[in-house]
Amino acid sequence: MKKFNVCIVGGGSTYTLGFLKSFVRMRKEFPLQKLVLFDTDKERQDPIGQFGDILFKEQFPELDFTYTTDIKEAYEGMDFVFMQMRTGGLPMRAKDEHIPFSMNLIGQETCGAGGMAYGLRSTVDMIKAVRDVRHYAPDAWILNYSNPAAIVAEALRREFPEDKRILNICDQPENVVRSCSRLLGCSWEELDPVYFGLNHFGWFTNIYDINTGEDLLPKIRELVKENGFLPQDAEQRDPSWLDTYGMVEEMMNDFPDYLPNTYNQYYLYPEYKVNHLDHEYTRADEVINGREKRVFEECKEVIATGTLGDKFDDISDAHAEMMIEVAVSIAYNKNDRHIMIVENNGAIANMQDDAMVEVACELGANGPRPLGVGNIPQFYLGLLVNQVSSEKLLVDVYYENSYQKALEAFTLNRLINDTKKAREVLDALIEANKGMWPELN
Ligand code: G6P
Ligand code: MN
Repeated sequence: MKKFNVCIVGGGSTYTLGFLKSFVRMRKEFPLQKLVLFDTDKERQDPIGQFGDILFKEQFPELDFTYTTDIKEAYEGMDFVFMQMRTGGLPMRAKDEHIPFSMNLIGQETCGAGGMAYGLRSTVDMIKAVRDVRHYAPDAWILNYSNPAAIVAEALRREFPEDKRILNICDQPENVVRSCSRLLGCSWEELDPVYFGLNHFGWFTNIYDINTGEDLLPKIRELVKENGFLPQDAEQRDPSWLDTYGMVEEMMNDFPDYLPNTYNQYYLYPEYKVNHLDHEYTRADEVINGREKRVFEECKEVIATGTLGDKFDDISDAHAEMMIEVAVSIAYNKNDRHIMIVENNGAIANMQDDAMVEVACELGANGPRPLGVGNIPQFYLGLLVNQVSSEKLLVDVYYENSYQKALEAFTLNRLINDTKKAREVLDALIEANKGMWPELN
């Protein structure tokens, strides 16, 4: 049986430990020959790499595991490249959140002004990284889940129009499906969702029981009314995530047709959210003081004792597992269903063909085959056309260095929506992103 070579770009990410453990747990489903971590930040990656050395020596000794800051070593001979880079790191995420809040706008990693700031930074780095990958591994599958995925996907579509092996994915739709399985008391794998939208801005129109074909959405609607909505792994989540999932109940009261992605709350209740989120201590601060510390502390302990001890467990990591399952679907031509970001081309019939939309797809060795949803109702269409226009204008900014286009992208975004505010936050973000954004004129 063929074994695969995988590189993780962003080896120093707080998500990497979850991947390393999941590669061990899933080694029968997805047998690896070689695993390479790549990061431009050696200081972050080294402890995670050393953790990996110890983990694999104990649990997966036949694996060829390395970590590097050299692109040739990273990419040559790869079958799959998982991309999870964060341009500017968590310190820039903090600025993306704090700067808009200081102007009474929503400060969020991927939505609104902060998301657009991150979008321009990511576009610059992702285009360069994909070029590097293609130089050394022309046929590798690039599974991108670097954020903001909607903007990155649009930029990669334009830069590499012929490249059919770049896939963009997000774990949030699957996380919502997993939440439904918690409510219903079934396994998430028994649920077959129909979904449409843009990344971090979409809806489930139906959630079918895979065994009977029954649409469970009406039942889910009732259960949400009775019990609220929680992440599947609520017990492991920070309080802010519980609030985010909790808003699903309110969204379903106001718009009962469909089950929303949790991120829709920012677009549907911008004023309420801006008044209720903590402007001084944002999600970035929570991550820096929480997950970030936990991950590097865990590495330190394992390196000091030289063994995993009880640090290897069977707790599943939804994010890593999903990404590995995506690779498995391609590797074995499984044609499993995954919700992915693809060029529309009729999947949402009444939306423009060249929008990067998020829909369920059958995924196999020839890439994703989107499952069309037909025409969507005017309300949803209006929201999505507005947002996709903002995202497309932002990618124009990268190509045209146009301040004017940036002002248009920021003004169109529902989380800003006012030209004077757009100009104010844009100017502050230009200042904060010097050297990481294209020069605007
Ligand atoms: C979800 C989204 C990701 C996002 C992440 C942020 O998983 O799909 O796109 O990056 O949440 O999580 P964090 O815990 O870093 O706030
Ligand atoms: Mn996401």
